[in-house]
Amino acid sequence: MNRSIAIPAQQTRLQLVRFGKPQEQGVVQLERDAPVPVPTGSQVLVKMLYAPLHPADMLTIVGFYPGVRYVVEQKPGFVPGLEGCGVVVARGEQATIPLGTRVVPLLGEEAGSWQQFVCVEGKQCICVPDDIDDRIAAQLFVNPLTVVGLYKEMEAAVDLVDNPWILQTAANSTLGRMMIALAKHHSLKTINVVRSAATVQELKELGADVVIVVEQEDDPHSNKSWDRKVLEITQGKGVAAVLEAVGSDIGSMACSCLQSGGLYLAYGAQSGKPIRMSNSDLIFKDITCKGFWLSRWFRKQPPHVVEDLFDLFRSQVFKPCIQTVLPLDRYLEAFRLQREKNRRGKILFSLAME
Ligand SMILES: NC(=O)c1ccc[n+]([C@@H]2O[C@H](COP(=O)([O-])OP(=O)(O)OC[C@H]3O[C@@H](n4cnc5c(N)ncnc54)[C@H](OP(=O)(O)O)[C@@H]3O)[C@@H](O)[C@H]2O)c1
Repeated sequence: MNRSIAIPAQQTRLQLVRFGKPQEQGVVQLERDAPVPVPTGSQVLVKMLYAPLHPADMLTIVGFYPGVRYVVEQKPGFVPGLEGCGVVVARGEQATIPLGTRVVPLLGEEAGSWQQFVCVEGKQCICVPDDIDDRIAAQLFVNPLTVVGLYKEMEAAVDLVDNPWILQTAANSTLGRMMIALAKHHSLKTINVVRSAATVQELKELGADVVIVVEQEDDPHSNKSWDRKVLEITQGKGVAAVLEAVGSDIGSMACSCLQSGGLYLAYGAQSGKPIRMSNSDLIFKDITCKGFWLSRWFRKQPPHVVEDLFDLFRSQVFKPCIQTVLPLDRYLEAFRLQREKNRRGKILFSLAME
């Protein structure tokens, strides 16, 4: 094994002890004396710098996220964390990535970014260029690449020149904020549905054309609902595509705002509740309803999709969206913050603790 620093024998990490509510005692635990793995063959050892906390990580802890193998197998006792970034500090004899290279390890269904040292195959690493900040690299894959993927799916399915209006729910999410920016970059017009008014001004400053606040529209004494507002804005036509991450009544209403031949793309389920879909819309408007999952989409992409993503950060179309950075031992606070309304971006764990 080649190494660039003295590697400790033990590390700090978060372990999922049993599936359950993230803040419940004994569900997730901090381990300060976990072994540091030794890379062999073409593996590299990555000293992690930062790792984000995603909604899918919360679902992993609860035991509902099928993108992680241990959740499907219902086998707790693993380290959660879908992504992060770090530095290659040791490598097996056949590994070719130079020591000291900053990388994003693609952990896939194994997860495991909430620890100080991760061992992965060298070919599973994205090398991070010098001009990309650590905190951008740490949340490079899951959200920004999904934004690009959602855009490409829309572009392929509907004529966005003929009708540039799209609608997104959960628009104040980290991903929603990036979608506003990418849509603007491509001259699309966005109708952004949020549940409260606190961040409307910020979303407009990011380039949102319209922000609809559901709690302001849900007036039982008024016969106006926000889907009518969408029809007014689009002069009766409806939107070309809906990017949907909530489900429930919000998702159902969003679906009813589609134009004939429009695309409903589900990529999240923040409410945990399903949508209702109108048979009439399916039959007479011929709308298409499908889902998007990054892991499936990414497997079919050419290698330059990642280089293109770096360019979107370089040109400042995408800007880092960070609410706060916390050390790993404040994980319970991180879980509490993740559930709070009106965040302005990601909660990142800082992993260079000791
Ligand atoms: N399919 C894929 O491949 C893929 C990839 C990446 C992400 N995603 C999904 O994309 C979504 C956004 O991810 P993110 O990391 O950007 O999330 P995030 O920054 O944690 O934001 C979560 C958002 O969900 C909203 N929200 C939470 N509960 C809600 C509810 N009951 N009703 C309405 N809105 C609710 C929040 O609204 P407030 O702003 O009002 O608090 C917030 O804007 C998530 O659902 C995530 O799982 C999917």
